Amino acid sequence: MPVSQTQHTQHSPGAQAFDVRRLSPHIGGEVTGLDLAQPLAPETFAALRKAWLEHQVLVFRDQKLSDDDQVRFARYFGTPIGSRSMQQANPHVMLISNIRENGQVIGQLPDGELQFHADSVFLEKPLMGAILHSVEVPASGGNTMFASTYAAYDALSREDKRRLSGLTAVNAFDYATQVRTGRFDTSKGPHRTHPVIRTHPETGRKGIFVNRLMTQHIVGLPLAESDALLPRLWELCERPAHIYEHVWRVGDVLMWDNRCTQHARTDFPEGERRLLRRVGIEGDKPY
Ligand SMILES: [Fe+2]
Repeated sequence: MPVSQTQHTQHSPGAQAFDVRRLSPHIGGEVTGLDLAQPLAPETFAALRKAWLEHQVLVFRDQKLSDDDQVRFARYFGTPIGSRSMQQANPHVMLISNIRENGQVIGQLPDGELQFHADSVFLEKPLMGAILHSVEVPASGGNTMFASTYAAYDALSREDKRRLSGLTAVNAFDYATQVRTGRFDTSKGPHRTHPVIRTHPETGRKGIFVNRLMTQHIVGLPLAESDALLPRLWELCERPAHIYEHVWRVGDVLMWDNRCTQHARTDFPEGERRLLRRVGIEGDKPY
């Protein structure tokens, strides 16, 4: 695996220098030299945003953030998104956990593996990105795999790129139906139509914007044709060469760009505790 290191030297008083080490050929960078519990100087933040756009996923090890620290860090990138989790005092923090208290799970998405997806693509404005902070992790498993949808798009043939341009697909929130029948029931949950190929609003790069967990069908194609085409696109996203797999340690902070990546979770033992805190960042309408 080619590994490169970029140094971001800061010139203004109070600005922090940091390094970024590439984690896989297409996606992921590990940042060292920053304590995210401290406020960032504007010059530092600008360099960090540039690194995020380049690497799509940034990893920071050995951090210790309060809920408020994590939300403050998210605000450098955009507007933090509210939570469906009622347990946290800070409404922008969502717990992802399998921990049960009084028979109830304390977080969302508690158990087992999760197929590849981008977050909230069943909404008009899916997340721009999100920031995860690990509090408790299992001894093994529960890894998060991140796929570069840029790399997947770049691997398409010229003919496929031409054919896919302008197509849209329906994305739905109904995991249970999908797992049970292989079909979504759009009468049961939120769903939205988005382009099959999305252009990133900041980098201008194109990526595949359909995923195995949430995309139902391509609009305007006979179902059999859509059913044949979609798995080809998913497999391209999920090709091992296009993936960085993150093995969690306590104290990790990881932020992903939800506009050009997909993620999936590997299975983990039922009896082991896993707790991550997530702060989402508001996104815009894909085009
Ligand atoms: Fe997710």
